[in-house]
Amino acid sequence: METPVVKLSDEELKTVYEPSEDSYLLIDALEADLEILRRMKPAICLEIGSGSGIVITALAMALRRHCSAHFLAIDINPDACRVTRRTSLLNCVDVDVAHMNLLDCIRIRCTFDIVLFNPPYVVTGYEEMLDDRLLFKTWAGGKSGRQVMEQVFAKIPEILSDAGLFYLVVIKENDPEYILSAFEKLNMSGKIVCERKVRGEHLYVLRFRKTKINEKPTSGM
Ligand SMILES: C[S@@+](CC[C@H](N)C(=O)[O-])C[C@H]1O[C@@H](n2cnc3c(N)ncnc32)[C@H](O)[C@@H]1O
Repeated sequence: METPVVKLSDEELKTVYEPSEDSYLLIDALEADLEILRRMKPAICLEIGSGSGIVITALAMALRRHCSAHFLAIDINPDACRVTRRTSLLNCVDVDVAHMNLLDCIRIRCTFDIVLFNPPYVVTGYEEMLDDRLLFKTWAGGKSGRQVMEQVFAKIPEILSDAGLFYLVVIKENDPEYILSAFEKLNMSGKIVCERKVRGEHLYVLRFRKTKINEKPTSGM
């Protein structure tokens, strides 16, 4: 997969998440699944918390000759929304952007074929999570680092198409096994598809899909 060109000014770096190891691990997970994703011929792909837009842009670039998918990015940070749009145009793909808190305004059901989320996952106190500064929103995950990501869990099976895939970045402290079992209760099977230890962080990418009837919940793809 080609790595998109991303340009962030010093001013933008004050609030927008600079592409880091977690962003690249998610891109690596998508690259490993590229044949599956291309065969799926997705119609609509969504990234929650797009930051600089590097991940959704990389996906749009990788799929552009294989399907005519629509790409949508959401971020709570208006600066990130602006930068995501610019990153997509800089790399000659079209990503629509919505300034939104998580999935608050998404009402459509069973629509998204690919959903991506590299959430704020760092374990912090409640105060950091509630801090209004936009840079805090890039990393502060509250108790167990799961307080932001958990807000979308129940909605994922609602918005995902039947054959859709959801990719989530987590760290060891978030307890990946707990997250896998939380999704099992939502009739979604998941597994670790990528992991990497970098500078004191053990990063994972989890991939989920809806469990088919008569299928054991924990089975992989
Ligand atoms: C770890 S950064 C990931 C950025 C980018 N996806 C990447 O991988 O480089 C988390 C992103 O989620 C966004 N975010 C945090 N809380 C959010 C919320 N409640 N709703 C929407 N976006 C949120 C942040 O602004 C930030 O851009």
